[in-house]
Order: sequence, then C-alpha cells, then structure tokens
Amino acid sequence: MDIYEPREDSFLLQKFVKKFAKGYVLDMGTGSGILANEAAQCKRAVKVFGVDINEEAIVHCIRSYQHKKLVFAQSNLFSLFRNYVPYKDVKFDVIFFNPPYLPTDEKYPDIALDGGKEGYELICRFFHETEPFLRPQGTVLIVFSSLTGKEKLDMFLMRNHWSFKELAREHISFEDIIVYNVQKIPKGMRRVEKR
Ligand SMILES: C[S@@+](CC[C@H](N)C(=O)[O-])C[C@H]1O[C@@H](n2cnc3c(N)ncnc32)[C@H](O)[C@@H]1O
Repeated sequence: MDIYEPREDSFLLQKFVKKFAKGYVLDMGTGSGILANEAAQCKRAVKVFGVDINEEAIVHCIRSYQHKKLVFAQSNLFSLFRNYVPYKDVKFDVIFFNPPYLPTDEKYPDIALDGGKEGYELICRFFHETEPFLRPQGTVLIVFSSLTGKEKLDMFLMRNHWSFKELAREHISFEDIIVYNVQKIPKGMRRVEKR
C-alpha cells in the first residue's frame, strides 16, 4: 500500500496545528506523519499519537521521527484505544484528521482517498466512535472537500450533537477544501428536536 504524499489538504490542516495542539494530541490517519511531527514540536503538546490503518505508513513514521513525545501505531480508527491495555480509554485534547473524503472510485481504489459511496461515510464512522476518546472541552480539526457531501455531513453533525465552525476554505483545481473545528455539545446545552 502506498503512503499518502502530503498535499494541499495536509498543508491546509498543518496551518492549524501550532495554534491548537496541546495536551494529548491524536493525528488520526497520520500517513507520512507530517501533522503528528508538527504537533510534537509544540510546547503545549504533552504526547502525540499518530495512528493509521496502513502498516507501511506506521513503519515509515517510526523510522523517520524520533521525538520523545511521539507514539506511532497501527489502528483502524480508535481500535487501538479500545483494545490495547496501555492506551485503553486515553482521552485527547485535540484530534487532527485528514481523512479519506472522496466518493468511492471503483476503477482506482485507494484507502487514503476512499471516504465511502458518497465520500462522507468514513467521517461519520469516525464521529460515531470519537466521543469516549475526547475530553469534554476537546476539539476535532478535520479537513474535507466540497466533493464530500458537505450538506449531509453538516446534517449528520447537527443530529449527533456536534457543533462545527468553518476555519478555512481553499480552492484547488476542481474542488474546495474545507477545515472544520468540531466540538461535542455538552448534554445540558443540546437542542431538543421536535418530532
Ligand atoms: C488523506 S490521507 C492523510 C495522510 C496525512 N494525515 C496527511 O495529512 O498527509 C488519509 C489517511 O487515513 C488513513 N486511513 C484510512 N482509513 C483509515 C482507518 N479506518 N483508520 C485509520 N486510518 C485510516 C489512510 O491510510 C491515509 O494514510
């Protein structure tokens, strides 16, 4: 499996790492490790986990970066933090995620790009799993594309009590790439949906 070469989406999200990285940081789908390594340079970051489903990416990261704050490990989304006792139930202050966010392309399957049939499905899976691993005031910074199915993603987030704010948008050739700051709405502050 190839390792994702950092591109515009990686660089756009990277711009926010210095400002947001603090405490326990997770770089979900770390790929080349570019975001995890940037986070480890931040004084306020205590420990930085970079995880990826792609074993080759993890081998590459372990060989490339030696910073003492960094831990790289293979994981399918949060499976590592559910199953591996030393890291079980760790809670993060910040999670960065440059996910696979494009609609499935049957001709050219690529785990780094394939976000599901409409593009946002893996992101929804991620948010379904995130809450137990995020501190109450914790933040998720996520990048996706205008091709991801933004309206459906927005609807999903609202229905599942996540608040979100667009931090950046950049036009590249045939799409916009967008960075969201996403936080869980505390229980007492949720809107009650009328049926
Ligand atoms: C678009 S790339 C981003 C790589 C890197 N973070 C960057 O910004 O350059 C998406 C990454 O997510 C990883 N990935 C895909 N599905 C995953 C899953 N279920 N769990 C963890 N990582 C996953 C891919 O292997 C790939 O490295």
